[in-house]
Amino acid sequence: MKPRDLSPADRALADVQRALETVFARPAAARPNPAQPHGDVVLDEPDRRHAAGLMRINHVGEVCAQALYCGQAAVAQDAHTRAHLLAAAQEETDHLAWCAERLDELDSRPSLLNPLWYASSYAIGGLAGLRGDGWNLGFVVETERQVEAHIDEHLTSLPAADARSRAILEVMKADEARHADAAEHAGARVLPPPVPALMALMSRVMKMVAYRI
Ligand SMILES: [Fe+2]
Ligand SMILES: [Fe+2]
Repeated sequence: MKPRDLSPADRALADVQRALETVFARPAAARPNPAQPHGDVVLDEPDRRHAAGLMRINHVGEVCAQALYCGQAAVAQDAHTRAHLLAAAQEETDHLAWCAERLDELDSRPSLLNPLWYASSYAIGGLAGLRGDGWNLGFVVETERQVEAHIDEHLTSLPAADARSRAILEVMKADEARHADAAEHAGARVLPPPVPALMALMSRVMKMVAYRI
């Protein structure tokens, strides 16, 4: 059955299933983990903890991306926009899986607050989506650009020896840039102030909390 043939109740159930899988299950990546060609990395304890904090932030970012896109898709008026958003969420699944795998390798865990991050991002996505499809895509562009910027920060901040995390982040960064370009070409509107600044503020709060919890 195609997504547009689903009833609202079916779509709501599919959204709940996706939320549970994102937060509590282990979604499988469709592409190989970019860390694979790099050998095992030995880090001292402060570096291991720092790398784990950064990768936990990236994992939360991907949980939020899934939720934002699903929330927006739930209220998208146009079938093409909905398909675009769901395809974007699908590609983010690779990022989610790779970050989770790296957290395991670093002997760490995802954020304990992931249910909260997911629920709040889904609500924000839904609210953004209610403004119309041009705004919806504008929100995708802004989200992807902000994620790209924080990945850049992490590439600088990661311990020099952590080639495995770095390989994952480099592929993610290229993907996020492509997602932003695709949304721009699909007809995104430029978000008015203060929306980008508010999004950046929320992202700063999320990064501060997710580094530790
Ligand atoms: Fe991503
Ligand atoms: Fe993305």
